[in-house]
Amino acid sequence: MRKWSTQSIQKQPVLEKISSLGYDVIMFDENLIIYLDGEFLKLKDSGISPLTHSLHYGSGVFEGIRAYKIKKGGGVFKLQEHIDRLFYSADSIGMKIPLKKEELKKIIPEVLRKNNLESAYIRPLIFFDGSSLGIDTKNNRVKVLVAAWAWGKYLADAVRVQISDFRRISEKSTVCDAKISGHYVNSLLATSKAKVNGFDEALLLDHQDNIAEGPGENIFLVREKELHTPKTGKILKGITRETVMEIAQKFGYEIFERDISPEELENFDGAFFSGTAAEVTPISEIEFQGKIFSFDTDSARDIREEFFRIVGPENEDSENYFTLI
Ligand SMILES: Cc1ncc(COP(=O)(O)O)c(C=O)c1O
Repeated sequence: MRKWSTQSIQKQPVLEKISSLGYDVIMFDENLIIYLDGEFLKLKDSGISPLTHSLHYGSGVFEGIRAYKIKKGGGVFKLQEHIDRLFYSADSIGMKIPLKKEELKKIIPEVLRKNNLESAYIRPLIFFDGSSLGIDTKNNRVKVLVAAWAWGKYLADAVRVQISDFRRISEKSTVCDAKISGHYVNSLLATSKAKVNGFDEALLLDHQDNIAEGPGENIFLVREKELHTPKTGKILKGITRETVMEIAQKFGYEIFERDISPEELENFDGAFFSGTAAEVTPISEIEFQGKIFSFDTDSARDIREEFFRIVGPENEDSENYFTLI
């Protein structure tokens, strides 16, 4: 039985509509092997406390990493970069990860091996345990969890996007380039509302009315051999974003990292999202205040194709991007 009063439901139109939509959800196998606090165990045996601090306050930090099956077998994409960002995120909230980077770098492929996964989505989460529920975390222990599962495409081949009226979290309110669990309520609201409104994904503006990023993706805008993308500082510094820029440079694109206003959208031929989950996904249109900006989903095709070649089964180069499982 829902406990919200009618009045509170009216104040929460987005959440209310979403619960009735019934999107596809991944149901996890309870026999999945996870790493938790020094042990490999079954998901059903994790025994995580309902009083876990990070569950109540969003005080975890996490990563989303992909492993791909390349020519030499399974490989984790840009593992070092993801581990570095995880430690940066932990540091930003004063959390000390009880493992060395090198140790975590070994545990992650081990979780894949134990689940017989070559191509997978990997989720390390570092969180404060249930020792205490004071907001300050001095009495909590830090726990390390790594889970992995097979996960295909996150978005459609090309997506229709709506600029959200929820703003991206501000650098004045939080460390907004850290991947902190609590930040994702902002993402959840934006993506859910865009979907309720009939779009595939949201795009959030920052507090200065410039384009920031998607709920779980960075954005690029394309004009001939130019790539324009919001500068870092207010956005998550995406690892796929870096990869896209490396590829673009190789292919002779000029890259502009700058403030971009939504009114400028009409000056671009193409747009695409980048992200670990979203990979490189063309955007076919962006709606902003009732106006639709349409894009050629074939623009910057060379960048997209090169990205999928790198993470594809024929790629023989495991040195540059991959940690082999
Ligand atoms: C808010 C946000 N922006 C951008 C990205 C893309 O980052 P990456 O390419 O490192 O996955 C993500 C995903 O991690 C994200 O959650």
